[in-house]
Amino acid sequence: MLNSPSGHTFFETMDIDDDELSEISVILELRRNFSMSVYKNKCMKRRIAIRMRSNRCQNVADYCHLLRSSEQELDLLLKTLTIHVSHFFRNPPMFDKLRAEILPLLYAQSRKSGTALRIWSLGAAGGEEAYSVALILQEHFADDLLTIPTPIKATDIDNGILEFARCGLYSEDRLNEVSSELRERYFSPQGNRFQLAFEIRNMVTFTQGNMANTGSYAAHELVLCRNTLIYFTRPDQEKILHGVADSMPPGGILVLGKSETLVGDVRRRFSSICPEERMYQRI
Ligand SMILES: C[S@@+](CC[C@H](N)C(=O)[O-])C[C@H]1O[C@@H](n2cnc3c(N)ncnc32)[C@H](O)[C@@H]1O
Repeated sequence: MLNSPSGHTFFETMDIDDDELSEISVILELRRNFSMSVYKNKCMKRRIAIRMRSNRCQNVADYCHLLRSSEQELDLLLKTLTIHVSHFFRNPPMFDKLRAEILPLLYAQSRKSGTALRIWSLGAAGGEEAYSVALILQEHFADDLLTIPTPIKATDIDNGILEFARCGLYSEDRLNEVSSELRERYFSPQGNRFQLAFEIRNMVTFTQGNMANTGSYAAHELVLCRNTLIYFTRPDQEKILHGVADSMPPGGILVLGKSETLVGDVRRRFSSICPEERMYQRI
């Protein structure tokens, strides 16, 4: 526990023990059907401590009492636990590689097999990743879009962030990596925010889904699962990666985040085609 200059004591991650974590976990499970067990404990404790500090709670019992009595705090905690940080063209070299090599390869495969190119943004947050792919397709693959069905699905566990994503209205800091040409063509200022054009929004379907439920995965030729896996325990990371491998046709591409990698047995099911950008091809 830390003492602040004002004399208040504030909770730190190490002040939440595993039993207390379980107590919060039960409340979330019962009230929001949200299971914390798939995530790393340390990560969850750090996030809970943030909410406890902002409510000036002195101990976990007080915070559990607050959680039981406040729907709003339950929603805020869920939002904090699921971490929605994202922006357009996050890690630009990955999107350059996608445009220059991966999408041409996947379209060539689709033309050969006469199948669609199905794209999935898994852990989609505010939609920035899925819309970045849609912008690339619209700008550079307009002819392919006319002849090859290219549905883009984006899923997240949090319905609130999906509502935000569907609106496509972003503050400027989310657009730092968007070129001025793209901004001019596809974003219109609305107050101090920017509205993404309908033609791009219309290319992406947002649906709620828990990526821990691997039985529900559908086949996709391109899966972007970036900066989300990192919060899961190692066994759950493996389960999710196997779920992707099970549902992905041979030749499909999986992209992970910069600080993520394939773990365990699943390494045998993919070949690494661009280690730098964490791109893997299904064998
Ligand atoms: C840090 S964001 C990543 C956004 C984007 N992929 C990117 O790289 O910019 C992580 C997202 O994963 C979502 N998430 C966390 N647990 C999830 C789960 N079990 N199933 C689906 N989405 C989940 C969170 O709600 C959050 O929006």
